[in-house]
Amino acid sequence: MILRITFICAVKGLGLIPGVVGRFDSSNGLRVPHIGWNALQTTKDTEILDDVGGRHVYFVHSYRVMPSDANNEWISSICNYGDSFISSITRGNVHAVQFHPEKSGDVGISILKKFLDPSSSSKTKKSAIGKASRLAKRVIACLDVRANDKGDLVVTKGDQYDVREQSNEKEVRNLGKPVDLAGQYYKDGADEVYACLQNKHAFALFGITVVVFMLNYLCLHMYAKKILRYTSENVFVPLTVGGGIRDFTDGNGRYYSSLEVASEYFRSGADKISIGSDAVYAAEEYLRTGVKTGKTSLEQISRVYGNQAVVVSIDPRRVYVRSPDDVEFKTIKVSSPGPSGEEYAWYQCTVNGGREVRPIGAFELAKAVEELGAGEILLNCIDCDGQGDGFDIDLIKLVSNAVMIPVIASSGAGAVEHFSEVFEKTNASAALAAGIFHRKEVPILSVKQHLLQNGIEVRACDGH
Ligand SMILES: *[C@@H]1O[C@H](CO)[C@@H](O)[C@H](O)[C@H]1NC(C)=O
Repeated sequence: MILRITFICAVKGLGLIPGVVGRFDSSNGLRVPHIGWNALQTTKDTEILDDVGGRHVYFVHSYRVMPSDANNEWISSICNYGDSFISSITRGNVHAVQFHPEKSGDVGISILKKFLDPSSSSKTKKSAIGKASRLAKRVIACLDVRANDKGDLVVTKGDQYDVREQSNEKEVRNLGKPVDLAGQYYKDGADEVYACLQNKHAFALFGITVVVFMLNYLCLHMYAKKILRYTSENVFVPLTVGGGIRDFTDGNGRYYSSLEVASEYFRSGADKISIGSDAVYAAEEYLRTGVKTGKTSLEQISRVYGNQAVVVSIDPRRVYVRSPDDVEFKTIKVSSPGPSGEEYAWYQCTVNGGREVRPIGAFELAKAVEELGAGEILLNCIDCDGQGDGFDIDLIKLVSNAVMIPVIASSGAGAVEHFSEVFEKTNASAALAAGIFHRKEVPILSVKQHLLQNGIEVRACDGH
C-alpha cells in the first residue's frame, strides 16, 4: 500500500505510528505552507527510494511529523525545512510519503513505477544517501490561455496588459495549443506550470457585449476543464489555474459559485487555483470592517481545499509620491527617483487585468489576503510587465517581507540575471515568466544553470 499522508491538525490519531504532528513554526522567518521542491535524505535501504537520496521532490503542506526515537524504525527518509521532518515511512511493504510523487517530475514517476514493479529498481545501484538541503527556489512557466475571436483556445504571449498585436491584425497571437505548451514547459524543466485564463480583458477591450462575453466565458470554462485534464496527464509538476474563478450563471440560469468553479478545476487536475480581482474586493471589505465573513471566494475555497491550494494574484502599479505622509498606504523609498524627482512610491492594486485602480496598496492587500486564507501570492507588476528589464525588486522586497506565505515574483524577466537578482535581493520563493520561456529567448534550463552557478538551490532536471 502507498499512502500520501495528510496531516490536518495535532489531534490524537490511531496510534499506529508513534510521533507528534505539528505545524511548521513560522516564528523564525520560515514561510508556511512549505511549498516547493526539497531534497530527501534517505535513511533506510528501500527499493522504492533506492536512488532518490539528494533528489528534489514536491511538497505542499503546513503540518509535519518530527523524527524521534519512538518512530525511528519507521522512517525511510527525512527532509529539512527549519528542522528535520519525516518525508516518508516504510515498514514491510507499507510505504507512505509526505510529498507528492505524482507532482515530483521524473523522480516521482520513478518512485511510483518502482512501487508498482519493484523489479524495475536498479538493484546494482548503491543506495544514494543524499543530503537534505534547503527548499529550492522555483522557476514557474506561465501560459496565458484565451479564446480568440473565432472561439478557438490559444496561448498568447505572456504580457498580460497588452494582448493585441500593434499592427492592424486583430488576431490574438496564437502561440501554440495550451496542452502542448504545458507539456513542453514540463520537459524544459519548469518546476510548476501556471495557466492563466484571460478573456475578460480581451473582450472588454473591444467593447463586445456582455452576452458574447458570457458565451465565451462558458466556452472557455468548458475548454479549460478539458485542457486541465489533458495537461495533468502529461505534466507531472504542479499546475495552477487562474483567471476564471468567480461566480457566474450559465445560459440555463444555473448559478455556479466560485467554490464550485474551483472544485471543477481541482477535479480536472489543477493543484492550485489563483484568484485576482475577487481577492482585492475581499481584502478591501475586510480592512474596512475588520470582520471575516467567511463568504468570500478566497475564504470558502481555502476552507474547503486548504490555504496551500489558493494563490492570490496581485496586479499593482507604482505610484510615486513626495513623502510617505501623502498617502495612507505603505510607501517605500525608491531605488531610482520618479519622473518629478519623487523619492517615495506606493504600489496601488488594480483589478480587471490592470484597467481599474483600487484604493488599496499591495502591502495592505498581501497582509489581508494572508489572514483571509491565501497560501501563496503571485506578485505581478504592471509597470514591468513585458518590459524584459527585470523584476521590480522594491515591490517584491516589500511584499515578500510583509507576509509569511510564499511569494512568486512575476513581470519583467528578460535575462537569466534577473532571476538570480530577485532571489539574491528579495525573499521571493519562486519566479515566474511566460513569453521568454515560450519563445526560448531565455530557456528555463539556462535560468537554472545560472542560478546554480550563483549558489542558489534549484531542482535539477533529468535528461539535460
Ligand atoms: C528576508 O527575510 C528575513 C526575515 O525573515 C529578513 O531578515 C531579511 O532582511 C529579508 N531579506 C531581504 C532581502 O529583504
